Amino acid sequence: MGDPLVFAHRGASADLPEHTLAAYLRALDEGADGLECDVRLTRDGHLVCVHDRRLDRTSNGHGLVSARTLAELEALDFGSWHPGCVPADGDEVLDDAHTRLLTLDRLLAAVTAAGRPVRLLVETKHPSRYGGDVERKLVATLRRHGLAEPRPDDPVQVTVMSFSPLAVRRMRELAPALPTVLLLEVLPRWLRLGRLPFGARIAGPGIGLVRARPQLVPALRAAGNQVYVWTVNEPDDLELVLDAGVDGVITDRPARTLARLGR
Ligand code: G3P
Ligand code: CA
Repeated sequence: MGDPLVFAHRGASADLPEHTLAAYLRALDEGADGLECDVRLTRDGHLVCVHDRRLDRTSNGHGLVSARTLAELEALDFGSWHPGCVPADGDEVLDDAHTRLLTLDRLLAAVTAAGRPVRLLVETKHPSRYGGDVERKLVATLRRHGLAEPRPDDPVQVTVMSFSPLAVRRMRELAPALPTVLLLEVLPRWLRLGRLPFGARIAGPGIGLVRARPQLVPALRAAGNQVYVWTVNEPDDLELVLDAGVDGVITDRPARTLARLGR
């Protein structure tokens, strides 16, 4: 079994503000195989890379992301809250890469321009709330960037992830060639340890689930699935998932993970 792929969760988000261009470029510089991002819709229908439903934790704005237009969100500061961005002296001004909202379009342009292979995991947030709009917009955006019908030698390879089997099914209908990850926080009763539903090729259990059920990873792999585990930040958890033989590690700390792998 080879080393797992290392994915930077929201970028190198332990060191820099999550979902900013700076956090993603840092992860690529560190040698991560891939990047993870969450996408949700603005009021005027743009896909933006933001994890939380609300703006309050990761920006100087308040309220719901979905209640704001892209232009309103672009005016906010998404970086200064992060300890990694506290200016060394009072005069320092953070640049756009550290503070500006990232749209999916801009992230795709950045990974395409990186000039090296990048695997991008895109997680659709709240697919039931948006009634399929997120998946339709996602596929349209990927098509514009030539990424919806992947060929093996394309440097940028996109995989779509969701906790929602419904979203996974929609993705299979909209873009059957794109691989999907079914994320698992708990083990649903309907999931027998066989193949995943709706053509998902990869299972994405959380580290809590893997700790509680150490046999889960080998069982899912024996049934023909790949397994990517999130969010693996602690050294003991990394040893656990390496011993279990995972295919992918999703982490806020790509540099530390890569160092453990001798890369
Ligand atoms: O990579 C999957 C993981 O990101 C799911 O949880 O809450 O960090 O989006 P969350
Ligand atoms: Ca996520």
